[in-house]
Amino acid sequence: MSGERKRLYIETVGCQMNVLDSEMVVAALRKEGYELTRDPDQADALFFNTCSVREHAEEKTYSSLGRFRMLKERRPEKLIGVLGCMAQKDQMQVFERVPFVDLVVGPGQLHRIPELLTAAASGAGRQLAVSLDRKAGSQESIRRSHETFDPLRDPEMRPTPFQAYLRIQIGCDKFCTYCVVPHTRGPEQGRPPPQILDEARLLAEQGCLEITLLGQTVNSYRFHDGTKLWRMADLLEHLHLIDGLRRIKFVTNYPKDMTGELLDTIARLPKVSPYLHVPAQSGSDRVLQRMKRGYTVSDYRAMMERIAERLPQASISSDFIVGFSGETDEDFQLTMDLVEQCQFKNSFIFKYSLRPGTKAAELLPDDVPAEVKSARNHALLELQDSISLRQQQQWIGRTVEVLVEGPSKHAMKRGMLGDLTQMTGRTHDDRIVVWDGNLRQAGQFLPVRIVDATAFTLLGTVVTQQVVGIGSPRMPDGATGDPHPLPLA
Ligand code: 5AD
Ligand code: SF4
Repeated sequence: MSGERKRLYIETVGCQMNVLDSEMVVAALRKEGYELTRDPDQADALFFNTCSVREHAEEKTYSSLGRFRMLKERRPEKLIGVLGCMAQKDQMQVFERVPFVDLVVGPGQLHRIPELLTAAASGAGRQLAVSLDRKAGSQESIRRSHETFDPLRDPEMRPTPFQAYLRIQIGCDKFCTYCVVPHTRGPEQGRPPPQILDEARLLAEQGCLEITLLGQTVNSYRFHDGTKLWRMADLLEHLHLIDGLRRIKFVTNYPKDMTGELLDTIARLPKVSPYLHVPAQSGSDRVLQRMKRGYTVSDYRAMMERIAERLPQASISSDFIVGFSGETDEDFQLTMDLVEQCQFKNSFIFKYSLRPGTKAAELLPDDVPAEVKSARNHALLELQDSISLRQQQQWIGRTVEVLVEGPSKHAMKRGMLGDLTQMTGRTHDDRIVVWDGNLRQAGQFLPVRIVDATAFTLLGTVVTQQVVGIGSPRMPDGATGDPHPLPLA
């Protein structure tokens, strides 16, 4: 490559962890003189940050890679990298399946990318960097092979300049039988609190107003610093003190660790969003047991009651897998019942996808026919959508405080990016709001009066003569009644 600026093209799929990982990779390569391009033809390096959670995500990546074969044949000096969970899971098989790939780098080895790129560019051949398997060394060496390099931040790669992800935990030790994450992201490790707090302060100094703490089971966070055991509640207390930060969110939660103590802390700290994403996965004890989720449906309900007592205005969302091994019509009906009772703000619903290397792949047959999985997926989505719509409609006529993110998806798609355009933002409890506004509103907290609602979006108008309490999780307009109580059986 010449001395002029080099260009990087990067595609990211999967969860927020991957979005953050891509941000880190871009930050590291900027230091090496790279700039970002959206045009693969212009790129010197093309990266694919991948997801392995479902087969579908992997297939999409492999077909996406296929599109670049011609480009690589025409310009062999372009370097192609497969990063993330699929790289860790498939390792050498990525090179076998896609022979023109130059780099395969697992999520725990991303800090080595500059060095690996240099080696590949200087003719050293294919570069493979993956973390150790969960049984391939001492605890300490396995952990170290999964470390991340979070302190490098690149504000330009964030979704907006005033929002950021902040990783507080790496890996997972829960070993749900269907899940590949404990294998691809390694053992659960809490990052040291001083690192997290320093990073949060830096983000606040850069103008960040909202941080979202990331971990596979973020509320199971633990770190022993030699004298004190830090838990999620301790971190929240300390993060809350940082000037400039106005909202603190966190995903994803594990039901059993949603303790009364943690919920009390959340309720006490106004900057912490009254929004909790707590995947239930199924409403049947038999299925939960086969998934090895470590709780029963009544444990989950008890958690919902704890939330309702302490955070009556919180919105809750969930994940469900339909068509898991052995799931009968009765099991599925129990899931429908749970969704009806819990009145989630929204649910992400997935058809079970068998993942090689997991306990379920080894021991449990993938025995629910594809058409049954599809029918259950559809039925559950329909139920959740009707619940979401009903809940959203209760906001019509109320005023919400919105952190303005920028032009709405609709405006972006239509290229309506003049000064006046449709804008979007989120409420403290993570509802999406759109209104006719202007680009200068981005990064502000605005009161928006809701005039209409769909299952996913609230539509409103900006209220001009109202002062909204800073960082308050309560509704500012003296709304009467609980807008979305959690009716629990
Ligand atoms: N098949 C389908 N969905 C899965 N998830 C995790 N593993 C699988 C799988 N093998 C879902 C879970 C999890 C979400 C991120 O992805 O619901 O909460
Ligand atoms: Fe996967 Fe279960 Fe860990 Fe979530 S808690 S990442 S579903 S193993």
